Amino acid sequence: MAADKPREVLIVPDEQSLAETAAERLLTRIAQANDRAAVCLTGGSTPQHLYRLLASEPYRCELPWGRVHWFMGDDRFVPPGHVLHNTGMARRSFLDHVPAPAANIHPIPTDASSPDAAARLYEAELKAFYGSDRLGAARPLFDLVLMGVGDDGHTASLFPHSAALDEKERWVVGIDNAGHEPFVSRITLTFAALASTREMLFLVSGHGKRDILRRVFSGEDLPANRARSDGELVWLVDRAAAPEHPDAG
Ligand code: 6PG
Repeated sequence: MAADKPREVLIVPDEQSLAETAAERLLTRIAQANDRAAVCLTGGSTPQHLYRLLASEPYRCELPWGRVHWFMGDDRFVPPGHVLHNTGMARRSFLDHVPAPAANIHPIPTDASSPDAAARLYEAELKAFYGSDRLGAARPLFDLVLMGVGDDGHTASLFPHSAALDEKERWVVGIDNAGHEPFVSRITLTFAALASTREMLFLVSGHGKRDILRRVFSGEDLPANRARSDGELVWLVDRAAAPEHPDAG
């Protein structure tokens, strides 16, 4: 098995440049995809700046919307119209304001009978899109996976001490007890599925993230530190969030 590539840490001056840098990387990944491109979005507040930017010029005009497919790395088990719904947030922030074909938007079915049922349905959808039940490192599922980090080190809906952290077979699982605000059940892609990408891009912004970033960069066993990528693994951090750390570029 190939050794994991080290993460790259990119520090940018502020939230605006973080969103712009992420948008440029997203455009590049989509341009590099021969045909259709697949992007896995993240929830939380940090990516919203990026999402709004994608709905504004020049990005709205430059993105080849017809060949980009949008997935979610995790969602809250709430009805689609709910204020806590991650896909709803992505729709309001950009997907409702751009010419993305409806068939290219792949929400987690949070109206299923249970988080586990929703997870199984989404896993089937991912497998159908990928065209196989087995992920191969030479042909990643995603071109870009966006990620965030919570104050306890969680990423997607993979929380500290959760059995889901060690899941190797399933691509998507239901999480009944998030143990973190908002206290609703979740559905999350597993590290195995998230790793199947040409680039995993963490977005971290604001002074409030400095303590958890210090813990991440010190190598503590936190969910965010268990994230792997078959391609690049990049942490895009703004100056307010950046602690002093050895691997900052
Ligand atoms: C979610 C997320 C979660 C998020 C982190 C960071 O559903 O909330 O996918 O993993 O990325 O909690 O969130 P913030 O950007 O709001 O700090």
